[in-house]
Amino acid sequence: MCGIVGYIGSRNTTEIIIKGLQRLEYRGYDSAGISVFDGENLSLVKCKGKVKELKNLLNSSPVNGNIGMGHTRWATHGEPNDANAHPHMSSSGLFTLIHNGIIENYYSIRKFLTGKGIEFVSDTDTEVLVQFIEYLYLKNNLSFAEAVRSALQKVVGAYGIVVLCKDEPDKLIAARHGSPLVLGIGEGEYFLASDTSPIIEYTRKIVYLDENEMTIIKSDSYEVRNIEEYKVISKEIQNIDYDLEQIEKGGYEHFMLKEIYEQPTSVYESTRGRIDLKKMTVKLGGIENWLTRILDANQIVITACGTSWHAAQIGSYIIEELVNITVKVEYASEFRYRETPIDNNTVVFAISQSGETADTLAAIRKARTMGALSVGIVNVVGSSIARETDCGVYIHAGPEIGVASTKAFTSQVTVLTEIALLLAQKKKLNCKMVKDIIRDFSTITEKIEKVFKQADKIKNIAKDFATSNNFLYLGRGYQFPVALEGALKLKEISYIHAEGYPAAEMKHGPIALIDENMPVLFIVTQRGFDKIMSNIQEVNARGGRIIIITSVDTKRCDEYSDHVIKIPAIHHCISPILTTIPTQLLAYYIAVERGCNVDQPRNLAKSVTVE
Ligand code: UD1
Ligand code: GLU
Ligand code: MG
Repeated sequence: MCGIVGYIGSRNTTEIIIKGLQRLEYRGYDSAGISVFDGENLSLVKCKGKVKELKNLLNSSPVNGNIGMGHTRWATHGEPNDANAHPHMSSSGLFTLIHNGIIENYYSIRKFLTGKGIEFVSDTDTEVLVQFIEYLYLKNNLSFAEAVRSALQKVVGAYGIVVLCKDEPDKLIAARHGSPLVLGIGEGEYFLASDTSPIIEYTRKIVYLDENEMTIIKSDSYEVRNIEEYKVISKEIQNIDYDLEQIEKGGYEHFMLKEIYEQPTSVYESTRGRIDLKKMTVKLGGIENWLTRILDANQIVITACGTSWHAAQIGSYIIEELVNITVKVEYASEFRYRETPIDNNTVVFAISQSGETADTLAAIRKARTMGALSVGIVNVVGSSIARETDCGVYIHAGPEIGVASTKAFTSQVTVLTEIALLLAQKKKLNCKMVKDIIRDFSTITEKIEKVFKQADKIKNIAKDFATSNNFLYLGRGYQFPVALEGALKLKEISYIHAEGYPAAEMKHGPIALIDENMPVLFIVTQRGFDKIMSNIQEVNARGGRIIIITSVDTKRCDEYSDHVIKIPAIHHCISPILTTIPTQLLAYYIAVERGCNVDQPRNLAKSVTVE
């Protein structure tokens, strides 16, 4: 969840760490801190707040050296305050440590250490680990690496950690169990981080740490070992191929807005080399070798969290409509702990932008042990889910930094559609519909551009509704998950309470909420047009304030609503890619209007790597 940066080398360590933390700030941002070996001691500077606050603090009390680490926290145990910020230091000042994850047995270890007279200064689960390392180091006369390893063997939970030791100040030790860590290899320098974004400025050469591995890094060498047997593991060095400008704002006020406007490209990237418009066919290299198993499956389960779960919902509609296989959509956090019949005739798709979502990762592990084929739909190349699935399809949307997911969502829907199209073609089902959808894909870029033409209008609507406290989003069929996603976007970044519902379900409860203060946003396409028009009238009759997003060219929408956002029509199976975009823009402009921090909404983090 949090951001981790480590550095060893001859550059200005503090500068590299701070810059890295700023690139990672989208991951966690309730407090930040840094520890550097300054030639004599492990210095420690940390505070509540954002990296900016830490930078100010460092201006008044500078630290530097050739080895160090930094952290942005997303609190799980203990409120965000100075004491709970990472790094944490052991009582005798021999170790500093940063941690991403949760030490689940922290309570019993803390009790044990307190019994030995060790005093704790924070409420975190993390402090337990650094105190425990020091305790074992002193008591058993261990080396730095041995102390880290022996503490980790007794710890239950999830961690990505980096540790410094005052007695062996030439090395950084990092370890991973459940939380991602990557090592960047430079010339006479090494970088550590929780994802590649702080590293690519300096080197393209990356080693991904795998589960239960630790690395010991010196300025001129590194080794990776497994924690259990302590055997040296030879790791493949991978090259990453995205550019710095992809993770910078490029003139936009917020990453979210930039990413919304990238959708013509990102959706296209998800289809490039996959949809052949001449032959009217779909090819997905990533699942080619597994197609027979997928086609023979008697059920498909799609598991995900949050926005990806909404994409999964749309995917289930498309696959069931085109391919005639039963598809279940499961929240990963439920699926992983629930009894459910899964066997080798099941295919489990796992959707995650980051590829690190803890619950989704656990869900595919469970599915695999039950014999299912696991297929990833992931954005971040080389991420845990991508590596642990049997096969998969990258969405290739490019780095997504804004915490509220936008372009990843439309690319997930695109890839799910491609999977449905491919399976239908192989099964020779719905041939005409398959061709119609492929043909409409060829127009999608220009149609997304047309949706953007509504931005000024949406901005004005946002002004009207920025002081609302509630919102209802209603849609039918394929637009129902779009309603869920639209409501989630609004909640996430503007803190307005919003709910999505199937439009007809409104009568079974939410209609009681409708009065002249209740904004209701309808998503209207040709499919089910008359039915949803009736729902609109039901709201109109009760005085609700109506906004309509519609691809239907009719005056009837104007008649019953305060605002109409007109967008181009497209095949109903891929209509969510277009209808979602006005909801993204509306959430964005309302949040800006309310003065909210769009890219770093309170309490949220980009990839949820804890349970
Ligand atoms: C791949 C290349 C792409 C190249 C194309 C040419 C990569 C990442 N992609 O794309 O650059 O243009 O071949 O044919 O190198 N995978 C998983 N789980 C996941 C996601 C992916 O196991 O969650 C695996 C796939 O099974 C596949 C590999 O990763 O083996 C790459 O996937 P993907 O990029 O989707 O494959 P292609 O579209 O063929
Ligand atoms: N569980 C730790 C804490 O609350 C780590 C949180 C994080 O991943 O940022 O301090
Ligand atoms: Mg999310």
